[in-house]
Amino acid sequence: MSEKTILVTGGAGYIGSVCTELLLTLGYRVIVIDNLQTGYLNAVHPKAQFVKGNIGNKSLLARLFKSNSIQAVIHFAAETLVTTANTNPQSYLRNNLVRSINLLDAMLEYGCHQIVFSSTAAVYGEPVDVPIKETHSTNPLNAYGDTKLMFEKILFYYAKAYGLKSIIFRYFNAAGCTDLYGEAHDPETHLLPLILRVPLKQADNINVYGNDYDTRDGTCVRDYVHVSDIANAHVLALEKMQQVKSSIYNLGNETGFTVQEVIATCEKVTKCTIPVVNKPRRVGDPARLIASSEKVRRELNWVPIYTDLEAIVESSWVWHSRYRSGYG
Ligand SMILES: NC(=O)c1ccc[n+]([C@@H]2O[C@H](COP(=O)([O-])OP(=O)(O)OC[C@H]3O[C@@H](n4cnc5c(N)ncnc54)[C@H](O)[C@@H]3O)[C@@H](O)[C@H]2O)c1
Repeated sequence: MSEKTILVTGGAGYIGSVCTELLLTLGYRVIVIDNLQTGYLNAVHPKAQFVKGNIGNKSLLARLFKSNSIQAVIHFAAETLVTTANTNPQSYLRNNLVRSINLLDAMLEYGCHQIVFSSTAAVYGEPVDVPIKETHSTNPLNAYGDTKLMFEKILFYYAKAYGLKSIIFRYFNAAGCTDLYGEAHDPETHLLPLILRVPLKQADNINVYGNDYDTRDGTCVRDYVHVSDIANAHVLALEKMQQVKSSIYNLGNETGFTVQEVIATCEKVTKCTIPVVNKPRRVGDPARLIASSEKVRRELNWVPIYTDLEAIVESSWVWHSRYRSGYG
């Protein structure tokens, strides 16, 4: 059991809530800072200390760091909607960069030198080689991916100049739920919860964007990684932070599933027919995004438990059937 205190930014959101749950189970003390702009109070674990506020608020951060001995920060808080990033880059730049820099500066000022950062496969853009290794070229296709890549670079300079140790995780498609915490974005843009709206009788069909890609069935291929496996990687990062150098790791299962295969798996799990409406391709949607996660397995001993798509879908179906309106 650990008695370390971890500050989790964005702990009222999807991945942050699951990570907080795991940290508390393992005996960490967790402080969640979240302004609830896309998160939910109900998603904050009752045993976490919750601070409603903005990660860019310098005086709030100063109070937090002064009154708690925080060993490390896990930084989930961000603007995450790819769809609005290019039309409203200001809020992405402000939140994912400016406010996040305020967080780093507060960490340095109060002697906290360890951070785990949520980055994304969107930093790669259209991949040249699949499975994608961390050494693959980066060429984000939208402002969201760009802000994540820029912050990775900021972390690189903070490591070099100020000794701030960082572990950066580039998540592929986070999916699945625990018994208590699940995926409830508003607006929802992620495939799995959108598909499950049909068997939940909250939607009549699912839109599929592009069925003429050069893939098994013409629909896009993505690598789905269970949110609990993502949370596990964060714990490993905290445990091994002292032994490894600042580094970037992909988090994915190394297996790709087409959109049609995900829909078919949802039909099997929910025992419900899910009608599809075919739509044109979306700009900036690569045909195939599959991770190489060899590096994180080798260096952090990460072993994903949910390697089977059906198990990932099952976990989501259980949560969404139980919490039909999410955290609302
Ligand atoms: N969900 C995915 O598939 C996925 C994939 C790749 C990367 N990521 C990254 O993982 C992280 C978590 O994603 P998620 O899906 O849980 O998102 P989410 O929107 O569910 O959670 C983000 C949380 O951060 C909070 N927040 C945002 N800005 C804040 C601010 N300035 N101050 C305080 N709180 C703030 C929100 O209220 C929300 O609770 C994000 O950084 C995202 O970019 C997610």
